[in-house]
Amino acid sequence: MNTVVLPLPGNEALADALLKQPALPRPAERGELAVRVFPDGETHLRLLSKVEGARVVLAATLDRPDAKLLPLLFAASLVRDYGAVEVGLLAPYLAYMRQDARFAPGEGVTARYFAKLLSSHLDWLVTVDPHLHRITALDQVYDCPTRVVHAAPAMAEWVAANVPAPILIGPDSESEQWVAEVASLAKVPYAVLDKIRHGDHQVEVSRPEMAQLLGRTPVLVDDIVSTAHTMAETLRHLQQMGAKPAVCIAVHAVFAEDAVARLTSSGAARVVSCNTIAHPSNAISLERWLAEAIRDVCGASPTERRAE
Ligand code: R5P
Repeated sequence: MNTVVLPLPGNEALADALLKQPALPRPAERGELAVRVFPDGETHLRLLSKVEGARVVLAATLDRPDAKLLPLLFAASLVRDYGAVEVGLLAPYLAYMRQDARFAPGEGVTARYFAKLLSSHLDWLVTVDPHLHRITALDQVYDCPTRVVHAAPAMAEWVAANVPAPILIGPDSESEQWVAEVASLAKVPYAVLDKIRHGDHQVEVSRPEMAQLLGRTPVLVDDIVSTAHTMAETLRHLQQMGAKPAVCIAVHAVFAEDAVARLTSSGAARVVSCNTIAHPSNAISLERWLAEAIRDVCGASPTERRAE
């Protein structure tokens, strides 16, 4: 079956990088989709490639998701109209995973609603380290088969090659799953702090132990950096404790508002991210693993894919 990688706007580099990976099921080619917005704000789509009989990989990372969702769902319907036999989504960043519970009466559990919407249009989904916390596996909310790429091996390689004598620091208990794995692969020590979030911009983080920092470069690791208040608060503690200038690593560089400026003004020596969301800080590439995950999910028979 032919594989057509169809990038949504802004995902062209991701599609091109994916097509260079030997693991991507072949034959494979890049598809073209023209997307524009009518003067009244509605979306116009035009498919410029043949997809009849093909497997279509929609490439669309989903930071700032609200404006991206409708064109994506329309694109899935459009390629089916034109005869695509399989429609999967490669979304290196999967949005809406953090609102995974009702924290106050009346709140929407948008992680579930988002998953329902996406699943109803897809045969499979491949993503990178989704924020799994109270939802502990994607199949608890996604009805289609999913594959998760872990960024830890690539992050560990980067740390080992770029930071002499590091100590990894996870700013909250949720980060332990990433930090512990990166630390074990890079064979370096790690510490996990406690965080209390009071609001979007108010975060309290505990201090690391002084003894753990001696002679080491702190490397802060988190899955998502959004406003960067979590990392900035940790950086301020480290500065006050006289630690060496720290490196910040995000799997997903969501970087809302003035996040990068907040990190540098709080003492970050370097800010680095995986390339799940295009940003100048991208230093860790994951396409190899993405292509392998796509090969894996496509390798399952249609029945297995549905039954998972
Ligand atoms: C949530 O628990 C995540 O793992 C991150 O710690 C959080 O999203 C970071 O948010 P911010 O950068 O806005 O502090």
